[in-house]
Amino acid sequence: MLEHDVIIIGGGLAGCRAAVEIARTDPSLNVAVVAKTHPIRSHSVAAQGGMAASLRNVDTEDSWEAHAFDTVKGSDYLADQDAVEILTREAPDVVIDLEHMGVLFSRLNDGRIAQRAFGGHSHNRTCYAADKTGHAILHELVNNLRRYGVQIYQEWYVMRLILEEGQAKGVVMYHLLDGQIVVVRAKAVMFATGGYGRVYNTTSNDYASTGDGLAMTAIAGLPLQDMEFVQFHPTGLYPVGVLISEAVRGEGAYLINSEGDRFMANYAPSRMELAPRDITSRAIAYEIRAGRGVHLDGSAGGPFVYLDLRHMGKEKIMSRVPFCWEEAHRLVGVDAVTQPMPVRPTIHYCMGGIPVNTDGQVRSSDEGLVEAFFAAGETSCVSVHGANRLGSNSLLECVVYGKRTGSAIARFVQNRKLPTIDEQSYIKAAKQQIQALLDQPGQYRINQVRQAFQDCMTEYCGVFRTQELMSQGLEKIQELQQKASQIYLDDKGTSWNTEIVEALEIRSLMVVGQTILSSALNRQESRGAHFREDYPQRDDENFLRHTLAYYSPAGIDIQYRPVTITMFEPKERKY
Ligand code: FUM
Repeated sequence: MLEHDVIIIGGGLAGCRAAVEIARTDPSLNVAVVAKTHPIRSHSVAAQGGMAASLRNVDTEDSWEAHAFDTVKGSDYLADQDAVEILTREAPDVVIDLEHMGVLFSRLNDGRIAQRAFGGHSHNRTCYAADKTGHAILHELVNNLRRYGVQIYQEWYVMRLILEEGQAKGVVMYHLLDGQIVVVRAKAVMFATGGYGRVYNTTSNDYASTGDGLAMTAIAGLPLQDMEFVQFHPTGLYPVGVLISEAVRGEGAYLINSEGDRFMANYAPSRMELAPRDITSRAIAYEIRAGRGVHLDGSAGGPFVYLDLRHMGKEKIMSRVPFCWEEAHRLVGVDAVTQPMPVRPTIHYCMGGIPVNTDGQVRSSDEGLVEAFFAAGETSCVSVHGANRLGSNSLLECVVYGKRTGSAIARFVQNRKLPTIDEQSYIKAAKQQIQALLDQPGQYRINQVRQAFQDCMTEYCGVFRTQELMSQGLEKIQELQQKASQIYLDDKGTSWNTEIVEALEIRSLMVVGQTILSSALNRQESRGAHFREDYPQRDDENFLRHTLAYYSPAGIDIQYRPVTITMFEPKERKY
Protein backbone atom coordinates (compact mmCIF):
# COMPACT_ATOMS: atom_id res chain seq x y z
CA MET A 1 0.00 0.00 0.00
CA LEU A 2 1.26 3.46 -0.85
CA GLU A 3 1.06 6.23 1.75
CA HIS A 4 1.01 10.00 1.48
CA ASP A 5 -0.06 12.78 3.78
CA VAL A 6 -2.18 14.16 0.94
CA ILE A 7 -3.27 12.57 -2.31
CA ILE A 8 -4.68 14.82 -5.02
CA ILE A 9 -6.51 13.22 -7.92
CA GLY A 10 -6.21 15.34 -11.05
CA GLY A 11 -3.18 17.05 -12.60
CA GLY A 12 -4.92 20.13 -14.00
CA LEU A 13 -4.90 23.67 -12.70
CA ALA A 14 -6.88 23.18 -9.48
CA GLY A 15 -4.98 20.07 -8.41
CA CYS A 16 -1.55 21.53 -9.22
CA ARG A 17 -2.34 24.85 -7.56
CA ALA A 18 -3.50 23.03 -4.40
CA ALA A 19 -0.36 20.88 -4.36
CA VAL A 20 1.86 23.97 -4.66
CA GLU A 21 0.01 25.63 -1.79
CA ILE A 22 0.35 22.60 0.49
CA ALA A 23 4.07 22.34 -0.26
CA ARG A 24 4.55 26.07 0.29
CA THR A 25 2.63 26.00 3.58
CA ASP A 26 4.36 22.96 5.06
CA PRO A 27 7.32 21.63 3.05
CA SER A 28 7.54 18.58 5.34
CA LEU A 29 4.23 17.19 4.03
CA ASN A 30 4.37 14.31 1.62
CA VAL A 31 2.05 15.29 -1.25
CA ALA A 32 1.20 13.29 -4.36
CA VAL A 33 -0.74 14.15 -7.52
CA VAL A 34 -2.33 11.34 -9.55
CA ALA A 35 -3.17 12.05 -13.19
CA LYS A 36 -4.90 9.90 -15.77
CA THR A 37 -2.72 11.51 -18.45
CA HIS A 38 0.58 13.31 -18.14
CA PRO A 39 -0.29 16.43 -16.03
CA ILE A 40 0.51 18.86 -18.81
CA ARG A 41 -2.01 17.05 -20.97
CA SER A 42 -4.79 17.68 -18.44
CA HIS A 43 -7.69 19.53 -20.00
CA SER A 44 -6.74 22.84 -18.33
CA VAL A 45 -3.97 23.05 -20.91
CA ALA A 46 -6.62 23.65 -23.57
CA ALA A 47 -8.03 26.78 -21.90
CA GLN A 48 -7.63 29.59 -24.36
CA GLY A 49 -9.09 33.02 -23.70
CA GLY A 50 -7.90 33.95 -20.21
CA MET A 51 -8.49 34.52 -16.55
CA ALA A 52 -10.58 37.37 -15.12
CA ALA A 53 -9.27 39.69 -12.39
CA SER A 54 -9.97 43.36 -11.69
CA LEU A 55 -6.33 44.44 -12.05
CA ARG A 56 -7.48 47.71 -13.66
CA ASN A 57 -4.56 47.71 -16.10
CA VAL A 58 -6.82 48.58 -19.03
CA ASP A 59 -10.02 49.69 -17.40
CA THR A 60 -9.43 51.88 -14.36
CA GLU A 61 -13.14 51.90 -13.45
CA ASP A 62 -13.12 48.18 -12.68
CA SER A 63 -13.44 46.77 -9.14
CA TRP A 64 -13.87 43.39 -7.45
CA GLU A 65 -17.45 44.44 -6.67
CA ALA A 66 -18.20 44.96 -10.37
CA HIS A 67 -16.63 41.58 -11.13
CA ALA A 68 -18.74 40.01 -8.38
CA PHE A 69 -21.94 41.59 -9.72
CA ASP A 70 -21.24 40.44 -13.29
CA THR A 71 -20.57 36.91 -12.02
CA VAL A 72 -23.77 36.75 -9.94
CA LYS A 73 -25.90 38.23 -12.73
CA GLY A 74 -24.24 35.86 -15.21
CA SER A 75 -25.09 32.95 -12.90
CA ASP A 76 -28.78 33.89 -13.12
CA TYR A 77 -28.54 34.54 -9.36
CA LEU A 78 -27.86 30.90 -8.45
CA ALA A 79 -24.22 31.47 -7.41
CA ASP A 80 -23.43 31.52 -3.70
CA GLN A 81 -22.42 35.13 -3.15
CA ASP A 82 -20.01 34.51 -0.26
CA ALA A 83 -18.02 32.24 -2.62
CA VAL A 84 -18.20 34.82 -5.42
CA GLU A 85 -16.87 37.51 -3.10
CA ILE A 86 -13.82 35.38 -2.29
CA LEU A 87 -13.31 34.57 -5.98
CA THR A 88 -13.37 38.15 -7.16
CA ARG A 89 -11.58 39.77 -4.20
CA GLU A 90 -8.67 37.34 -4.39
CA ALA A 91 -8.42 37.39 -8.19
CA PRO A 92 -5.80 40.16 -8.63
CA ASP A 93 -3.46 38.60 -6.04
CA VAL A 94 -3.55 35.12 -7.55
CA VAL A 95 -2.76 36.51 -11.01
CA ILE A 96 0.27 38.36 -9.67
CA ASP A 97 1.32 35.24 -7.77
CA LEU A 98 1.16 33.21 -11.00
CA GLU A 99 3.28 35.83 -12.70
CA HIS A 100 5.83 35.46 -9.91
CA MET A 101 5.81 31.70 -10.45
CA GLY A 102 6.86 32.35 -14.03
CA VAL A 103 3.65 32.53 -16.07
CA LEU A 104 4.19 34.60 -19.22
CA PHE A 105 1.03 36.69 -19.63
CA SER A 106 0.60 38.89 -22.71
CA ARG A 107 1.65 42.50 -22.05
CA LEU A 108 0.52 46.04 -22.68
CA ASN A 109 3.05 48.38 -24.30
CA ASP A 110 4.04 49.66 -20.85
CA GLY A 111 4.84 46.12 -19.68
CA ARG A 112 1.83 45.51 -17.43
CA ILE A 113 -0.38 42.43 -17.89
CA ALA A 114 -2.79 42.93 -20.81
CA GLN A 115 -6.55 42.52 -20.28
CA ARG A 116 -9.29 41.95 -22.82
CA ALA A 117 -13.10 41.97 -23.07
CA PHE A 118 -15.05 38.77 -22.39
CA GLY A 119 -18.73 37.77 -22.45
CA GLY A 120 -20.88 39.06 -19.60
CA HIS A 121 -18.05 41.09 -18.04
CA SER A 122 -18.78 44.82 -17.86
CA HIS A 123 -15.06 45.76 -17.94
CA ASN A 124 -11.98 44.59 -19.83
CA ARG A 125 -10.59 42.36 -17.10
CA THR A 126 -9.51 39.09 -18.69
CA CYS A 127 -5.75 38.51 -18.38
CA TYR A 128 -4.37 36.23 -21.09
CA ALA A 129 -1.43 34.65 -22.83
CA ALA A 130 -2.55 35.13 -26.47
CA ASP A 131 -5.15 32.33 -26.84
CA LYS A 132 -3.10 29.69 -25.00
CA THR A 133 -3.62 30.86 -21.41
CA GLY A 134 -4.21 27.43 -19.87
CA HIS A 135 -1.06 26.15 -21.54
CA ALA A 136 1.02 29.00 -20.13
CA ILE A 137 -0.30 28.57 -16.58
CA LEU A 138 -0.32 24.78 -16.38
CA HIS A 139 3.24 24.41 -17.61
CA GLU A 140 4.55 26.75 -14.92
CA LEU A 141 2.49 25.10 -12.19
CA VAL A 142 3.83 21.67 -13.13
CA ASN A 143 7.38 23.08 -13.14
CA ASN A 144 6.71 24.42 -9.66
CA LEU A 145 5.35 21.06 -8.48
CA ARG A 146 8.62 19.46 -9.46
CA ARG A 147 10.56 22.20 -7.71
CA TYR A 148 8.63 21.54 -4.48
CA GLY A 149 9.18 17.78 -4.73
CA VAL A 150 5.53 16.79 -5.15
CA GLN A 151 5.32 13.18 -6.29
CA ILE A 152 3.49 12.74 -9.60
CA TYR A 153 1.78 9.47 -10.55
CA GLN A 154 1.10 9.97 -14.22
CA GLU A 155 -1.09 7.72 -16.37
CA TRP A 156 -2.74 6.07 -13.37
CA TYR A 157 -6.53 5.76 -13.47
CA VAL A 158 -8.25 6.12 -10.11
CA MET A 159 -11.05 3.53 -9.93
CA ARG A 160 -12.49 4.12 -6.50
CA LEU A 161 -12.70 6.54 -3.63
CA ILE A 162 -12.25 4.77 -0.31
CA LEU A 163 -14.90 6.25 1.94
CA GLU A 164 -15.68 4.53 5.24
CA GLU A 165 -17.97 5.85 7.97
CA GLY A 166 -18.07 9.33 6.55
CA GLN A 167 -14.29 9.63 6.16
CA ALA A 168 -12.24 9.61 2.95
CA LYS A 169 -9.25 7.36 3.50
CA GLY A 170 -7.64 6.94 0.11
CA VAL A 171 -8.15 5.63 -3.41
CA VAL A 172 -7.69 2.50 -5.49
CA MET A 173 -5.80 3.10 -8.72
CA TYR A 174 -4.89 1.23 -11.89
CA HIS A 175 -1.62 1.70 -13.76
CA LEU A 176 -2.10 1.94 -17.49
CA LEU A 177 1.47 0.89 -18.10
CA ASP A 178 1.24 -2.60 -16.66
CA GLY A 179 -2.21 -3.16 -15.15
CA GLN A 180 -0.97 -2.95 -11.56
CA ILE A 181 -3.66 -2.14 -8.97
CA VAL A 182 -2.59 -0.20 -5.91
CA VAL A 183 -4.30 1.18 -2.81
CA VAL A 184 -3.14 4.57 -1.58
CA ARG A 185 -4.01 5.78 1.89
CA ALA A 186 -3.76 9.40 2.92
CA LYS A 187 -4.67 11.79 5.69
CA ALA A 188 -6.61 13.87 3.16
CA VAL A 189 -7.95 13.10 -0.31
CA MET A 190 -8.65 15.85 -2.83
CA PHE A 191 -10.53 15.47 -6.12
CA ALA A 192 -9.64 17.90 -8.91
CA THR A 193 -10.70 15.63 -11.73
CA GLY A 194 -12.24 18.19 -14.09
CA GLY A 195 -15.45 17.98 -16.08
CA TYR A 196 -17.49 15.55 -18.15
CA GLY A 197 -17.69 17.00 -21.70
CA ARG A 198 -17.52 13.48 -23.15
CA VAL A 199 -21.01 12.76 -21.81
CA TYR A 200 -22.13 14.55 -25.01
CA ASN A 201 -21.27 13.87 -28.63
CA THR A 202 -19.84 17.28 -29.51
CA THR A 203 -17.55 18.94 -27.02
CA SER A 204 -14.58 21.21 -26.67
CA ASN A 205 -13.27 18.87 -23.94
CA ASP A 206 -10.52 16.31 -24.39
CA TYR A 207 -11.01 12.55 -24.43
CA ALA A 208 -10.15 12.28 -20.74
CA SER A 209 -13.06 14.50 -19.61
CA THR A 210 -15.33 11.63 -18.63
CA GLY A 211 -16.48 12.78 -15.20
CA ASP A 212 -14.69 10.01 -13.28
CA GLY A 213 -14.33 11.99 -10.04
CA LEU A 214 -18.01 12.96 -10.12
CA ALA A 215 -19.07 9.37 -10.73
CA MET A 216 -16.83 7.94 -8.00
CA THR A 217 -18.22 10.47 -5.54
CA ALA A 218 -21.80 9.66 -6.53
CA ILE A 219 -21.19 5.90 -6.34
CA ALA A 220 -19.77 6.41 -2.84
CA GLY A 221 -23.23 7.74 -1.86
CA LEU A 222 -22.40 11.45 -1.77
CA PRO A 223 -24.49 14.10 -3.52
CA LEU A 224 -23.71 16.01 -6.71
CA GLN A 225 -24.95 19.59 -6.89
CA ASP A 226 -26.63 21.51 -9.75
CA MET A 227 -25.75 18.94 -12.40
CA GLU A 228 -28.53 20.15 -14.71
CA PHE A 229 -26.46 23.22 -15.58
CA VAL A 230 -24.38 22.18 -18.59
CA GLN A 231 -22.57 24.94 -20.44
CA PHE A 232 -22.63 25.13 -24.21
CA HIS A 233 -19.84 27.32 -25.52
CA PRO A 234 -21.32 29.33 -28.40
CA THR A 235 -18.44 28.90 -30.80
CA GLY A 236 -17.39 25.33 -31.31
CA LEU A 237 -15.74 24.88 -34.69
CA TYR A 238 -18.16 23.05 -37.01
CA PRO A 239 -18.19 20.07 -37.38
CA VAL A 240 -15.45 19.01 -34.95
CA GLY A 241 -16.68 20.96 -31.90
CA VAL A 242 -13.25 22.15 -30.71
CA LEU A 243 -13.12 25.50 -28.96
CA ILE A 244 -12.84 28.74 -30.86
CA SER A 245 -12.18 31.04 -27.95
CA GLU A 246 -14.55 33.76 -26.79
CA ALA A 247 -11.39 35.85 -26.99
CA VAL A 248 -12.01 35.99 -30.74
CA ARG A 249 -15.25 37.87 -30.05
CA GLY A 250 -13.54 39.76 -27.22
CA GLU A 251 -11.10 41.03 -29.83
CA GLY A 252 -13.96 42.11 -32.10
CA ALA A 253 -15.28 39.21 -34.25
CA TYR A 254 -18.96 39.14 -35.34
CA LEU A 255 -21.57 36.37 -35.33
CA ILE A 256 -23.41 36.36 -38.67
CA ASN A 257 -26.40 34.31 -39.90
CA SER A 258 -27.20 33.14 -43.44
CA GLU A 259 -28.78 36.52 -44.18
CA GLY A 260 -25.58 38.34 -43.30
CA ASP A 261 -27.08 39.82 -40.10
CA ARG A 262 -25.32 40.31 -36.77
CA PHE A 263 -28.25 38.54 -35.14
CA MET A 264 -27.13 39.12 -31.55
CA ALA A 265 -28.74 42.55 -31.89
CA ASN A 266 -32.08 40.70 -31.49
CA TYR A 267 -31.07 38.79 -28.36
CA ALA A 268 -28.71 40.98 -26.31
CA PRO A 269 -28.53 44.43 -27.91
CA SER A 270 -26.36 46.00 -25.21
CA ARG A 271 -23.73 43.23 -25.25
CA MET A 272 -24.04 41.83 -28.81
CA GLU A 273 -21.45 39.04 -29.33
CA LEU A 274 -20.22 39.48 -25.75
CA ALA A 275 -23.43 38.40 -24.06
CA PRO A 276 -23.06 35.53 -21.56
CA ARG A 277 -22.72 32.08 -23.04
CA ASP A 278 -26.18 30.70 -22.22
CA ILE A 279 -27.82 33.59 -24.09
CA THR A 280 -25.40 33.50 -27.04
CA SER A 281 -25.60 29.71 -27.43
CA ARG A 282 -29.40 29.78 -27.37
CA ALA A 283 -29.41 32.63 -29.89
CA ILE A 284 -27.29 30.59 -32.31
CA ALA A 285 -29.52 27.54 -31.76
CA TYR A 286 -32.63 29.66 -32.46
CA GLU A 287 -31.10 31.05 -35.65
CA ILE A 288 -30.27 27.55 -36.86
CA ARG A 289 -33.77 26.31 -35.93
CA ALA A 290 -35.35 29.22 -37.79
CA GLY A 291 -33.51 28.26 -40.98
CA ARG A 292 -30.95 31.07 -40.78
CA GLY A 293 -28.00 28.75 -40.29
CA VAL A 294 -25.56 28.10 -43.10
CA HIS A 295 -24.57 25.00 -45.09
CA LEU A 296 -20.99 24.23 -46.12
CA ASP A 297 -21.79 25.40 -49.68
CA GLY A 298 -22.87 28.78 -48.22
CA SER A 299 -26.61 28.24 -48.72
CA ALA A 300 -29.20 28.94 -45.98
CA GLY A 301 -30.84 26.42 -43.63
CA GLY A 302 -27.66 24.72 -42.49
CA PRO A 303 -26.29 23.59 -39.13
CA PHE A 304 -23.91 26.45 -38.25
CA VAL A 305 -23.50 30.23 -38.27
CA TYR A 306 -20.45 32.28 -39.17
CA LEU A 307 -17.86 33.81 -36.87
CA ASP A 308 -16.39 36.60 -38.94
CA LEU A 309 -12.93 37.94 -38.09
CA ARG A 310 -12.05 39.44 -41.45
CA HIS A 311 -12.46 43.07 -40.44
CA MET A 312 -9.97 42.54 -37.59
CA GLY A 313 -7.06 42.26 -40.03
CA LYS A 314 -4.22 39.79 -40.24
CA GLU A 315 -1.90 41.45 -37.74
CA LYS A 316 -4.48 41.43 -34.92
CA ILE A 317 -5.69 37.91 -35.71
CA MET A 318 -2.18 36.50 -35.74
CA SER A 319 -0.99 38.28 -32.60
CA ARG A 320 -4.10 37.95 -30.37
CA VAL A 321 -5.77 34.70 -31.44
CA PRO A 322 -3.18 32.76 -33.47
CA PHE A 323 -4.19 29.36 -32.12
CA CYS A 324 -7.83 29.81 -33.16
CA TRP A 325 -6.71 30.81 -36.63
CA GLU A 326 -4.54 27.69 -36.75
CA GLU A 327 -7.33 25.38 -35.54
CA ALA A 328 -9.73 26.56 -38.25
CA HIS A 329 -7.02 26.31 -40.88
CA ARG A 330 -5.75 22.89 -39.86
CA LEU A 331 -9.08 21.23 -39.03
CA VAL A 332 -11.55 22.64 -41.56
CA GLY A 333 -9.35 24.41 -44.10
CA VAL A 334 -10.64 27.92 -43.34
CA ASP A 335 -8.24 30.89 -43.46
CA ALA A 336 -9.96 33.25 -41.01
CA VAL A 337 -8.08 36.25 -42.40
CA THR A 338 -10.11 35.93 -45.61
CA GLN A 339 -13.00 33.58 -44.76
CA PRO A 340 -15.58 33.37 -41.94
CA MET A 341 -15.35 30.37 -39.61
CA PRO A 342 -18.25 27.89 -39.31
CA VAL A 343 -19.33 27.63 -35.64
CA ARG A 344 -22.12 26.24 -33.49
CA PRO A 345 -22.53 25.59 -29.74
CA THR A 346 -20.42 22.81 -28.25
CA ILE A 347 -20.47 21.31 -24.74
CA HIS A 348 -17.80 23.09 -22.77
CA TYR A 349 -18.23 23.19 -19.02
CA CYS A 350 -20.03 21.71 -16.05
CA MET A 351 -21.37 24.33 -13.65
CA GLY A 352 -22.42 21.66 -11.15
CA GLY A 353 -20.24 19.19 -9.34
CA ILE A 354 -19.18 17.85 -5.96
CA PRO A 355 -20.62 20.31 -3.42
CA VAL A 356 -17.95 21.96 -1.28
CA ASN A 357 -17.69 24.82 1.20
CA THR A 358 -15.33 27.74 0.61
CA ASP A 359 -12.42 25.74 2.09
CA GLY A 360 -12.99 22.98 -0.46
CA GLN A 361 -14.43 20.55 2.11
CA VAL A 362 -16.92 18.18 0.49
CA ARG A 363 -20.52 18.33 1.69
CA SER A 364 -22.46 15.17 2.48
CA SER A 365 -25.73 17.12 2.72
CA ASP A 366 -26.81 20.72 3.23
CA GLU A 367 -25.44 20.66 6.76
CA GLY A 368 -22.87 17.84 6.81
CA LEU A 369 -19.23 17.62 5.69
CA VAL A 370 -17.23 14.55 4.72
CA GLU A 371 -14.15 14.08 6.88
CA ALA A 372 -10.81 14.36 5.03
CA PHE A 373 -12.38 14.81 1.58
CA PHE A 374 -11.77 17.97 -0.46
CA ALA A 375 -12.46 19.08 -4.03
CA ALA A 376 -11.78 22.09 -6.24
CA GLY A 377 -11.98 23.22 -9.86
CA GLU A 378 -14.53 22.12 -12.43
CA THR A 379 -15.33 18.88 -10.64
CA SER A 380 -16.48 20.82 -7.58
CA CYS A 381 -19.43 23.13 -7.05
CA VAL A 382 -18.62 25.87 -4.54
CA SER A 383 -20.85 27.48 -6.30
CA VAL A 384 -19.39 30.54 -8.02
CA HIS A 385 -20.97 29.94 -11.43
CA GLY A 386 -24.54 29.10 -10.45
CA ALA A 387 -26.62 28.40 -13.53
CA ASN A 388 -24.19 29.89 -16.06
CA ARG A 389 -20.46 30.54 -15.86
CA LEU A 390 -18.89 33.64 -17.34
CA GLY A 391 -15.94 32.97 -19.63
CA SER A 392 -12.53 33.41 -17.96
CA ASN A 393 -13.96 32.73 -14.49
CA SER A 394 -13.04 29.05 -14.56
CA LEU A 395 -9.25 29.37 -14.67
CA LEU A 396 -9.76 31.89 -11.91
CA GLU A 397 -11.83 29.47 -9.86
CA CYS A 398 -9.20 26.73 -10.28
CA VAL A 399 -6.47 29.00 -9.00
CA VAL A 400 -8.34 30.81 -6.20
CA TYR A 401 -10.06 27.71 -4.87
CA GLY A 402 -7.12 25.39 -5.63
CA LYS A 403 -5.00 27.66 -3.46
CA ARG A 404 -7.60 27.95 -0.68
CA THR A 405 -8.26 24.23 -0.65
CA GLY A 406 -4.52 23.50 -0.55
CA SER A 407 -4.16 25.85 2.38
CA ALA A 408 -7.13 24.23 4.20
CA ILE A 409 -5.69 20.76 3.59
CA ALA A 410 -2.26 21.77 4.92
CA ARG A 411 -3.96 22.88 8.14
CA PHE A 412 -6.26 19.87 8.29
CA VAL A 413 -3.56 17.17 8.12
CA GLN A 414 -1.44 18.61 10.94
CA ASN A 415 -1.20 16.03 13.75
CA ARG A 416 -3.48 13.56 11.95
CA LYS A 417 -2.65 9.89 11.66
CA LEU A 418 -2.89 7.85 8.48
CA PRO A 419 -6.20 5.96 8.36
CA THR A 420 -6.51 2.20 8.66
CA ILE A 421 -7.57 0.42 5.47
CA ASP A 422 -8.16 -3.26 4.68
CA GLU A 423 -5.95 -3.08 1.60
CA GLN A 424 -6.53 -6.64 0.39
CA SER A 425 -10.30 -6.35 0.27
CA TYR A 426 -10.04 -3.28 -2.00
CA ILE A 427 -7.43 -4.90 -4.26
CA LYS A 428 -9.58 -8.02 -4.54
CA ALA A 429 -12.70 -6.03 -5.46
CA ALA A 430 -10.82 -3.97 -8.07
CA LYS A 431 -9.27 -7.09 -9.63
CA GLN A 432 -12.69 -8.73 -9.79
CA GLN A 433 -14.13 -5.65 -11.44
CA ILE A 434 -11.48 -5.71 -14.14
CA GLN A 435 -11.62 -9.46 -14.61
CA ALA A 436 -15.40 -9.25 -15.03
CA LEU A 437 -14.90 -6.69 -17.81
CA LEU A 438 -12.34 -8.92 -19.52
CA ASP A 439 -14.56 -12.00 -19.21
CA GLN A 440 -17.78 -10.37 -20.43
CA PRO A 441 -19.10 -12.45 -23.34
CA GLY A 442 -20.43 -9.25 -24.89
CA GLN A 443 -21.68 -8.40 -28.32
CA TYR A 444 -20.98 -4.65 -28.46
CA ARG A 445 -17.78 -2.72 -28.95
CA ILE A 446 -17.02 0.15 -26.52
CA ASN A 447 -17.33 2.75 -29.22
CA GLN A 448 -20.86 1.64 -30.23
CA VAL A 449 -22.21 1.97 -26.71
CA ARG A 450 -20.38 5.21 -25.94
CA GLN A 451 -21.52 6.84 -29.18
CA ALA A 452 -25.13 5.77 -28.63
CA PHE A 453 -25.00 7.17 -25.10
CA GLN A 454 -23.46 10.48 -26.19
CA ASP A 455 -26.05 10.83 -28.96
CA CYS A 456 -28.81 10.12 -26.45
CA MET A 457 -27.63 12.82 -24.02
CA THR A 458 -27.25 15.32 -26.87
CA GLU A 459 -30.72 14.62 -28.24
CA TYR A 460 -32.63 14.37 -24.96
CA CYS A 461 -30.84 16.85 -22.70
CA GLY A 462 -29.33 19.53 -24.94
CA VAL A 463 -29.93 23.28 -25.30
CA PHE A 464 -33.74 22.96 -25.36
CA ARG A 465 -35.37 20.61 -22.84
CA THR A 466 -38.87 19.33 -22.06
CA GLN A 467 -40.37 16.88 -19.60
CA GLU A 468 -41.31 14.50 -22.42
CA LEU A 469 -37.89 14.58 -24.05
CA MET A 470 -35.96 14.06 -20.83
CA SER A 471 -38.21 11.24 -19.62
CA GLN A 472 -37.57 9.46 -22.91
CA GLY A 473 -33.84 10.13 -22.44
CA LEU A 474 -33.83 8.46 -19.03
CA GLU A 475 -35.54 5.36 -20.46
CA LYS A 476 -33.00 5.18 -23.28
CA ILE A 477 -30.14 5.41 -20.81
CA GLN A 478 -31.52 2.45 -18.91
CA GLU A 479 -31.50 0.43 -22.15
CA LEU A 480 -27.95 1.57 -22.85
CA GLN A 481 -26.88 0.46 -19.39
CA GLN A 482 -27.91 -3.06 -20.34
CA LYS A 483 -25.78 -2.80 -23.44
CA ALA A 484 -22.84 -1.51 -21.41
CA SER A 485 -22.88 -4.77 -19.49
CA GLN A 486 -22.44 -6.59 -22.79
CA ILE A 487 -19.34 -4.83 -24.02
CA TYR A 488 -16.67 -7.07 -25.48
CA LEU A 489 -13.02 -6.12 -24.93
CA ASP A 490 -10.62 -7.20 -27.66
CA ASP A 491 -7.52 -6.55 -25.59
CA LYS A 492 -7.14 -9.06 -22.77
CA GLY A 493 -3.62 -8.00 -21.80
CA THR A 494 -2.21 -5.96 -18.94
CA SER A 495 0.19 -3.78 -20.90
CA TRP A 496 -1.22 -0.37 -21.78
CA ASN A 497 -4.75 -1.71 -22.01
CA THR A 498 -6.67 1.46 -22.84
CA GLU A 499 -9.82 -0.58 -23.46
CA ILE A 500 -10.09 -1.35 -19.75
CA VAL A 501 -9.92 2.34 -18.94
CA GLU A 502 -12.47 3.17 -21.64
CA ALA A 503 -14.83 0.53 -20.25
CA LEU A 504 -14.47 1.99 -16.76
CA GLU A 505 -15.05 5.46 -18.17
CA ILE A 506 -18.37 4.37 -19.68
CA ARG A 507 -19.60 3.67 -16.16
CA SER A 508 -18.60 7.24 -15.22
CA LEU A 509 -20.34 8.72 -18.25
CA MET A 510 -23.57 6.88 -17.49
CA VAL A 511 -23.69 7.79 -13.80
CA VAL A 512 -23.04 11.44 -14.65
CA GLY A 513 -25.50 11.46 -17.55
CA GLN A 514 -28.26 9.98 -15.42
CA THR A 515 -27.60 12.57 -12.72
CA ILE A 516 -27.76 15.42 -15.24
CA LEU A 517 -31.05 14.17 -16.69
CA SER A 518 -32.74 13.56 -13.34
CA SER A 519 -31.66 16.94 -11.95
CA ALA A 520 -32.87 18.66 -15.14
CA LEU A 521 -36.18 16.84 -15.12
CA ASN A 522 -36.88 17.97 -11.56
CA ARG A 523 -36.04 21.64 -12.15
CA GLN A 524 -39.28 22.91 -13.62
CA GLU A 525 -38.10 26.36 -14.61
CA SER A 526 -35.59 27.98 -16.98
CA ARG A 527 -32.47 29.47 -15.46
CA GLY A 528 -29.08 30.12 -17.04
CA ALA A 529 -27.96 27.21 -19.17
CA HIS A 530 -30.99 25.08 -18.18
CA PHE A 531 -33.74 25.99 -20.64
CA ARG A 532 -37.11 24.25 -20.40
CA GLU A 533 -39.46 24.91 -23.31
CA ASP A 534 -42.31 23.70 -21.09
CA TYR A 535 -41.27 26.06 -18.24
CA PRO A 536 -39.69 29.03 -20.04
CA GLN A 537 -39.60 31.42 -17.05
CA ARG A 538 -37.25 31.59 -14.10
CA ASP A 539 -39.14 30.64 -10.92
CA ASP A 540 -37.38 32.08 -7.86
CA GLU A 541 -40.18 31.13 -5.56
CA ASN A 542 -39.73 27.42 -6.11
CA PHE A 543 -36.27 27.03 -7.63
CA LEU A 544 -33.90 29.65 -6.29
CA ARG A 545 -32.12 26.73 -4.67
CA HIS A 546 -29.33 24.29 -5.39
CA THR A 547 -30.12 20.76 -6.45
CA LEU A 548 -28.51 17.91 -4.51
CA ALA A 549 -28.74 14.63 -6.46
CA TYR A 550 -28.00 11.37 -4.63
CA TYR A 551 -27.24 8.55 -7.03
CA SER A 552 -27.97 4.88 -6.44
CA PRO A 553 -28.28 2.10 -9.02
CA ALA A 554 -32.02 2.03 -8.21
CA GLY A 555 -32.48 5.69 -9.14
CA ILE A 556 -31.66 9.25 -8.15
CA ASP A 557 -33.03 11.03 -5.12
CA ILE A 558 -33.32 14.81 -5.53
CA GLN A 559 -33.11 17.25 -2.65
CA TYR A 560 -32.49 21.00 -2.55
CA ARG A 561 -30.41 23.40 -0.47
CA PRO A 562 -30.54 27.19 -0.12
CA VAL A 563 -28.54 29.71 -2.14
CA THR A 564 -26.37 32.18 -0.18
CA ILE A 565 -27.37 35.75 -1.03
CA THR A 566 -25.23 38.43 0.63
CA MET A 567 -24.76 41.30 -1.81
CA PHE A 568 -27.13 41.32 -4.77
CA GLU A 569 -30.87 40.61 -4.60
CA PRO A 570 -32.11 38.56 -7.57
CA LYS A 571 -33.69 40.58 -10.35
CA GLU A 572 -34.62 40.15 -13.98
CA ARG A 573 -31.57 39.39 -16.07
CA LYS A 574 -31.35 41.53 -19.21
CA TYR A 575 -28.42 42.43 -21.46
O1 FUM B 1 -13.57 30.91 -24.89
C1 FUM B 1 -12.65 30.63 -24.15
O2 FUM B 1 -11.50 30.98 -24.34
C2 FUM B 1 -12.97 29.88 -22.95
C3 FUM B 1 -12.76 30.40 -21.77
C4 FUM B 1 -13.44 29.83 -20.60
O3 FUM B 1 -14.17 28.87 -20.74
O4 FUM B 1 -13.28 30.39 -19.50
